[in-house]
Parts: sequence; C-alpha cells; structure tokens
Amino acid sequence: MHTTSDKKLIEVCYTPGQYPLYEGKFDLVVVIDVLRATSAITTALHYGVEKIIPVGTVEEARAFKAKGYITAAERDGQVVEGFDFGNSPYAFMDEKMKGKTVVLTTTNGTRAIQLAASKCTVVMGCLNNLDFLCQWLIERHENTLVLASGWKDKVNLEDTICGGAIANTLLETRRFRSNEDSTVAAKFIYRSAREHLLSFLRASSHRRRLIQLNIQQDVKYCLTLNTVPCIPVLKDGVLVRLDYHPVNTEYAIKTPFSSHSN
Ligand code: MLT
Repeated sequence: MHTTSDKKLIEVCYTPGQYPLYEGKFDLVVVIDVLRATSAITTALHYGVEKIIPVGTVEEARAFKAKGYITAAERDGQVVEGFDFGNSPYAFMDEKMKGKTVVLTTTNGTRAIQLAASKCTVVMGCLNNLDFLCQWLIERHENTLVLASGWKDKVNLEDTICGGAIANTLLETRRFRSNEDSTVAAKFIYRSAREHLLSFLRASSHRRRLIQLNIQQDVKYCLTLNTVPCIPVLKDGVLVRLDYHPVNTEYAIKTPFSSHSN
C-alpha cells in the first residue's frame, strides 16, 4: 500500500508552449513526438547511431554541416534543401550509420528537447519503445512529466495518446499520482483509442500531412508498438542510448492496445 506521500507525480503537458506552466516540479521529462522525431531518434540509437545532437534551428544545423557533421533537417514534414536527410526513421537504419554522430533539427521535436534540457533527466518516448520505457519509468519512480511536442504549439492526437498510455500505465501501479486535467484527459483519450489505434489516428492532422507527402511507410512504422527496446537520454546536450537492462520483473509492463492496432 503506497500512501500519497510515497507517490510520485505523472503529468502530461500537451505542447512546448505550455511547458513553463508545468516545469519545476519534475525530476524527469519524457519528450514525445510520435510523428516522427522521437520515433526516429529512438530507432536511430537502437540501430547503432552513436550520438544525436539535437539543434533548434536550420542555421545551427548548417553550421555543423560546414564542420563536416552528418546532418538531418526537417521542416513541415520535408527534408530541408541541402541536408543529408530529414526525419524518416528508415534513414537511420542504414548499416553505414552505425557508430556515427548525427546532428538533427525538426519542426517541433528538437525544440521540445531543448526546452526540457535544463536540470532534469530528459528521455525520449514514442509508441515504438512504449512498454520498455514504462518499465524503466516505474523502476525509476520519480516525478515525471510527459512533454508532447505537438504541432507548432498546437495539441496533436498521436502524442496525446502516447502520453495518455504512459500516464495510464504508471497510474495503474498506484505508485504514481496526477493532479492535472491534461493528464486525466490524455488518459481517457488513450483509453478510447487503444482498441482501434489506427482508425482513431486517421483523424490526426500530421498523419494527413505526412500522407500527402507520400510517406505512409513512416507513419505506419511510427504507429507500431514496441519495436525498439531503447531509451534515448540527453547527456550534456547529446542524445545517447540509456544503459538499461531490466532485471525487475515485478512490473512486467504490457500497455493494453488491441492487437488490431498494429
Ligand atoms: C517534428 O519534429 O515536428 C516532427 O517530427 C515532424 C515530422 O517528422 O514530420
């Protein structure tokens, strides 16, 4: 039995713009950008990219490119002209990327990462690492904020569902509590979506945007659950793979989504 004072906070913040309303109370921030930044970063580190340097602007990325770095830049879903590639998870699965350092800037995701990069531990979450991440968050047992990247400071559906799934899973252990209605709402949206994730997300604005750009393959990949047991963590401004090998099976996590979701 855990008393309220033992319980740690889990809250969901919907956009980087709302982050100042939440920051300060948390030890750990999980940045989410399901379509596609955090899915791409998690995939990249899982497939062997050694480091990712997230930068906020295209100009910063260009400065790194001029110094010889591999650079990836995405704006409005497209690869920015002059860069090696954008934000597709598939770009990072290439054997040639193993052991490499990549500089990355994206429309929303890298901005959210930079905002959170203050005193807290900052990790990346997505549907691809959902259960692995939840297991680690439960073991870690710290005041945790899920920071959704949203779209240009507006709420988006896919990050809200992923944040709601994380909050729901942590709250069900009874070792966490939440105070914010944003968390309650994210949890209920996740619960409505979990039986039919793909059809629910048909309504997502960024999914439609990416499909117009003809990148259905990326959308399908990013909406697939539990494919990469990897947690990217920010260390001195650089994303690296967290050294985590779960030993505690007490909380073997299985976030409920219908098998039809995939
Ligand atoms: C972002 O950071 O805004 C997204 O990841 C955009 C995308 O990949 O399409």
